[in-house]
Amino acid sequence: MIVSTVILAAGQGTRMRSNLPKVLHCLAGKPFIEYSLRAAESLGGEMPVVVIGHGADAVRAFVGERARFALQMRQLGTAHAVMMAEPLLAGQSDLVVVINADMPLLYESTLRRLVELQTENPGPMTLLTILSKDSHGFGHVSRTENGIVKAIVEEAVATPDQLAIEELNAGVYCFSALWLWPALHQIPASPKGEHYLTDTVELAVRDGLRVESLRLTDPDEAIGINTRLHLAEAETLLRKRINNGWMLEGVTIVDPNTTYIGPDVKIGQDTIIYPGTHLDGVVEIGPDCQLGPNAIIKDTTIGVACRVGSSILEMAVIENHVEIGAFCHLGPGSYLGDGVILGNSVEINDTYLAPGVHVPHFSYLGDATVGENATFGAGAVVCNFDGKVIQPVEIGPRVFIGAGTLIVSPVKVGEGAYTGAGSVVIADVPPDTIIQAVSASPISKPEQGE
Ligand code: UD1
Ligand code: MG
Repeated sequence: MIVSTVILAAGQGTRMRSNLPKVLHCLAGKPFIEYSLRAAESLGGEMPVVVIGHGADAVRAFVGERARFALQMRQLGTAHAVMMAEPLLAGQSDLVVVINADMPLLYESTLRRLVELQTENPGPMTLLTILSKDSHGFGHVSRTENGIVKAIVEEAVATPDQLAIEELNAGVYCFSALWLWPALHQIPASPKGEHYLTDTVELAVRDGLRVESLRLTDPDEAIGINTRLHLAEAETLLRKRINNGWMLEGVTIVDPNTTYIGPDVKIGQDTIIYPGTHLDGVVEIGPDCQLGPNAIIKDTTIGVACRVGSSILEMAVIENHVEIGAFCHLGPGSYLGDGVILGNSVEINDTYLAPGVHVPHFSYLGDATVGENATFGAGAVVCNFDGKVIQPVEIGPRVFIGAGTLIVSPVKVGEGAYTGAGSVVIADVPPDTIIQAVSASPISKPEQGE
């Protein structure tokens, strides 16, 4: 069976009240169309087709090469949107899965079950339904006395009896391709001038064909995002899902309600995460680490048994047994070798610290390469920018940089050299030399009344 997938993402998302296309609003740090794309990709087969319209350029830019695109110039309803994919897909597959892009919490396994059910269904379609007392504005699933699906009734046109139906249309369908493409052309316009995909149900029933359904008992999976309230609900559910997954893998999360972990994070066993910690983007954390409270770690790799306090790490690589205290900021290109210790208020950018380097208090290191076991006193600063160009600094192994030293790039401080407190290094320092700051001689204070 060849399965193709259509993701509907052309709608304006009026109810979000936003300039940003609805599907580019973020969930767990990612524009939420990402989750529909992943679900579609999990079915294998051809690249999914994304129907774009409102904010087409922005959606296309985010999705990139992961999908083909069908443009819906005017948003004339969900059936019309699927029709836009017909030129790309007709005659190409046996089954067509349609996913509303505003259903990001759908499990990949559910989608596979839906496809399996349709494979066995002699009729033309299978739809996903949920049981929920809160209708979220979804269509209600009307069944015959024998329990056969007979229609989906949208809220706007539902009678009070129909509104009371707690089985809702999740907005995810699997169709027989042969049946779907011609059927779409038979769907009449609604009073609002839109063509609803949900009307395929009545078309099938009219022709005596069987509509199958897969009913989910956990409504959380089918939360549809139409407003920012729904977005926040989905965020809470997704966060819970991700955090629960890591706790079951052996990670301690002290307060799951205040711990934010993105979908592309990996965490080793026996790592402990303290409250207020965010792991965002592509992050890999080794086992036996301690993170937080209030650590913000983005696109960073951390090895075994490291400790990171209330600090911000972005695009950094941290080897094993590294300690990073409070209020440090590691920017892109920071590399910390084994056993490095950063204390408080240390900023590092584009800098390599070899194993065993200590930078305990209030320092800035930018564009520097630092050799093994070098130590920095409080307030040491690499002055890597002269207002025009950024230039590098090389500091050898076992160097001791005294408190308040300014190292003005481009210079090299040789292995084992020592700079006294307050030195300003403006020329290369040979290995094993000591340099000292020139201090001003004391000025005697005039006596009072003189
Ligand atoms: C739709 C279903 C409803 C279901 C609900 C589940 C219809 C008529 N109703 O309602 O039964 O319970 O989803 O979430 O299908 N879109 C387009 N082009 C358009 C219109 C919409 O691409 O012309 C896209 C939207 O971007 C969105 C999806 O289709 O991703 C669903 O549209 P939306 O307006 O959110 O439909 P609902 O009112 O939620
Ligand atoms: Mg919707």
